[in-house]
Amino acid sequence: MPTYRRLPVEFVKGQGSWLWDTVGQKYLDALTGIAVCGLGHAHPKIADAICEQAKTLLHTSNLYEIGPQQALADKLTSLSGMQHVFFGNSGAEANEATLKVARLYGNKKGIKNPTVIVTDKSFHGRTIATLSATGNRKVQAGFEPLVSGFRRVPYNDIEAIEAIAKTATNVVAIMVEPVLGEAGVHIPDDDYLTNIRRICDENGWLMMLDEIQTGIARTGKMFAFQHADITPDVMSLAKGLGNGVPIGACLVNGPAADVLGPGNHGSTFGGNFLSTRTALTVLEIIEEQQLVARAASLGESITQKLETAFADLPLVSSVRHKGMMLGIELSQACPNLVEYALDHLLLINCPSETIIRLLPPLTLSDEEADILVTRLYNVLSSYTPA
Ligand SMILES: Cc1ncc(COP(=O)(O)O)c(C=O)c1O
Repeated sequence: MPTYRRLPVEFVKGQGSWLWDTVGQKYLDALTGIAVCGLGHAHPKIADAICEQAKTLLHTSNLYEIGPQQALADKLTSLSGMQHVFFGNSGAEANEATLKVARLYGNKKGIKNPTVIVTDKSFHGRTIATLSATGNRKVQAGFEPLVSGFRRVPYNDIEAIEAIAKTATNVVAIMVEPVLGEAGVHIPDDDYLTNIRRICDENGWLMMLDEIQTGIARTGKMFAFQHADITPDVMSLAKGLGNGVPIGACLVNGPAADVLGPGNHGSTFGGNFLSTRTALTVLEIIEEQQLVARAASLGESITQKLETAFADLPLVSSVRHKGMMLGIELSQACPNLVEYALDHLLLINCPSETIIRLLPPLTLSDEEADILVTRLYNVLSSYTPA
């Protein structure tokens, strides 16, 4: 089905930060399949793990014990300080698990019509429940009736949440992205998550973080919540966890830890040998290469280089970043900028016509970072808005 308006290019090979098209042209990938291939393309250790696992055992189902799944759950819980994990195959599925935890938590407490607070401009997925939670009418339009049980507040607005806390009796959870990804890298106030944690504690609500884009070292911490001194009750992961092999995870802690039990949820493919072995290898590489700290320092240095390069470009208003999630605000609409950058052999993304989003590999070298800055400068300095 034509659900994507695809760009006129087909890649046939990848290596590290680079992609090659069918005629051998080489592109710098500053998007990594939308924050997925954090370790770059064709990583030899990941390729070896996938091959070895494929030759050993791919799938048995969750009716039996799965060694790598348990090992990955142990690793994720130790990294996050959370208690249990459910594995699915995508971000949307991870968020479906999140929403089911919230509903069952509320219903077990005897709360009628349990409601989850969600924010404007959020993106949580394309399934019926997750698009209902998403704060973007474009994603929802035409799919009514939407799933009920959500209340929406502006992003980064603690007062709006406190106002609901004063009157509402059926709220059971808040679901929020630590940094808005799909909306264009919007970074909330430093105390946003701490305040949400406080309000959740005061009201017995679950704090549920969608870390599908921000998790797995992307923001310069293994999980974005680690920038604040808090732990969420529920966290969803996907994207960077598998470096291209589909996997999603929903982690639970504290009051959310023992909500789901046998028969409450499931997945045929979720947590199989292939995806969990791959994700374990991803986490091993991140540790070996100290990519959490590298994402923090590289994000900072790329931002400084971009700011210097763009100082004389009126088209650029500002550059913002959290680790290796970068957003560039443009002073006017720049239609077709992604295609124009493609002509300059650079992969970028524009969540709107006035924002560029960069999600480069965490393994980007300093030399490649310089090439990224130069190419983007060349793109923006020669582009003429229509
Ligand atoms: C924050 C966030 N949540 C959920 C999703 C949905 O993930 P998936 O496309 O794997 O279903 C995305 C995907 O862009 C995302 O960025």
